[in-house]
Amino acid sequence: MKLSDNKATLSFSDGKPSVDLPIYQGTMGPDVMDIRKLYGQTGMFTYDPGFLSTASCQSAITYIDGDKGELLYRGYAIQDLATQCDFLDTAHLLFYGDLPTVEQKADFDRRVLRHSMVNEQMQFFLRGFRRDAHPMAVLTGLVGAMSAFYHENTDIHNAEHRDRAAIQLIAKMPTLVAMAYKYGKGEPYMYPQNNLSYAGNFLRMMFGTPCEEYQVNPVIEKALDRIFILHADHEQNASTSTVRLCGSSGTNPFAAIAAGVACLWGPAHGGANEACLNMLEDIQKMGGVAKVGEFMEKVKDKSNPVRLMGFGHRVYKNYDPRAKLMQETCNEVLAELGLENDPLFALAKKLEQIALEDDYFVQRNLYPNVDFYSGIVQRAIGIPVNLFTGIFALARTVGWIAQLNEMIADPEYKIGRPRQLFTGHAPRSIKPIQDR
Ligand code: CMC
Repeated sequence: MKLSDNKATLSFSDGKPSVDLPIYQGTMGPDVMDIRKLYGQTGMFTYDPGFLSTASCQSAITYIDGDKGELLYRGYAIQDLATQCDFLDTAHLLFYGDLPTVEQKADFDRRVLRHSMVNEQMQFFLRGFRRDAHPMAVLTGLVGAMSAFYHENTDIHNAEHRDRAAIQLIAKMPTLVAMAYKYGKGEPYMYPQNNLSYAGNFLRMMFGTPCEEYQVNPVIEKALDRIFILHADHEQNASTSTVRLCGSSGTNPFAAIAAGVACLWGPAHGGANEACLNMLEDIQKMGGVAKVGEFMEKVKDKSNPVRLMGFGHRVYKNYDPRAKLMQETCNEVLAELGLENDPLFALAKKLEQIALEDDYFVQRNLYPNVDFYSGIVQRAIGIPVNLFTGIFALARTVGWIAQLNEMIADPEYKIGRPRQLFTGHAPRSIKPIQDR
């Protein structure tokens, strides 16, 4: 970051001396005021619940221009990555800063694809869960447990350990997600097959059985790979910030990523794809497209907590570029599977059309986000609704690790420790129980 010639001056109406705050400039996006010395200089904290105006770190990984609806990974537009690269290229880019050369790609892909098997003991650990447990509950446990199985790579301050843990995590996440799915279904786990692509291998582990050969459908394989690319990173969102905060204590990378999985589960974040599909199914049960108007009235009624899931974003105040790509993929997958007349897709398009013209949504800049169409694609592929967020976690693991490793390598990094505005009791004494 570069120190700007400008500075901010903070003045106080009670006559306290004013304070100069340095301003830093990034490559793109808003400048930041450096308030690190503010408490020392004024005895005051800043107050910003939800981090509406706070940059929690400097990062060179992902850039979002929410007004333009632009998303760049290391300077490359998401549209270009989604159409010209595969997920492992994207992972290489996010980890190491650039797209791989031919040799680097061969080496990176080999390292990832050769580490896809998990310790055999993992399946006994998995058996401790109820079969009907939510896959995100299972995944939080399995990812956290990786530090017990792969404890030789847990020193977050050792660059080689971090790299090995990174490869293990992205290599093994698909295996763990597929195992969680198979366990819920009561089917045997499928061992990974290293000659398949990352997405192809995952499809086989999910939908193959030991009884017959599994043929990977290239259209579905490409669609899944695109879902992974679109979800790979999204700068300092809630789960990524969780991973950074958790990792800032020096905990091991598997534990930090498990914290990210737990955060992602929430319906305002990664859980939105599941919530969105459930919403579409509910409207369908109520009467489908004919009931869209009635549903939208509920969404706009401020006394009603119903939200249009898959719509709105803290950063995008324009169409989420990932939603456009996801809609394209949705068309391709439904055509391939002969599901062009899928009623939920028709419903989603109707909801989108109404929302984009409705004053409520226009005034608040609410547009479809990545989750609006991803559920329809995943459902068509055969992925159960309660596993949608698990697929998101699989893909986002790449971004979480890239961000965690960037933080550890940053000489300015410190343990994260926010402060508070205390609004509770001033000191008081305990009364004897009979007098309370
Ligand atoms: N449906 C109806 N109204 C909405 C919606 C929605 N989906 N999203 C925002 N609003 C309204 C909200 O009621 C508020 O109105 P008012 O100003 O009258 O009080 C205004 O828009 C601003 O909303 P906010 O909740 O203050 O905005 P936020 O930045 O805190 O929330 C959000 C962002 C994503 C949590 C929110 O838009 C939301 O709940 N969307 C639905 C859930 C969803 O799709 N989440 C996935 C996000 S993308 C994937 C990911 O990051 O994991």
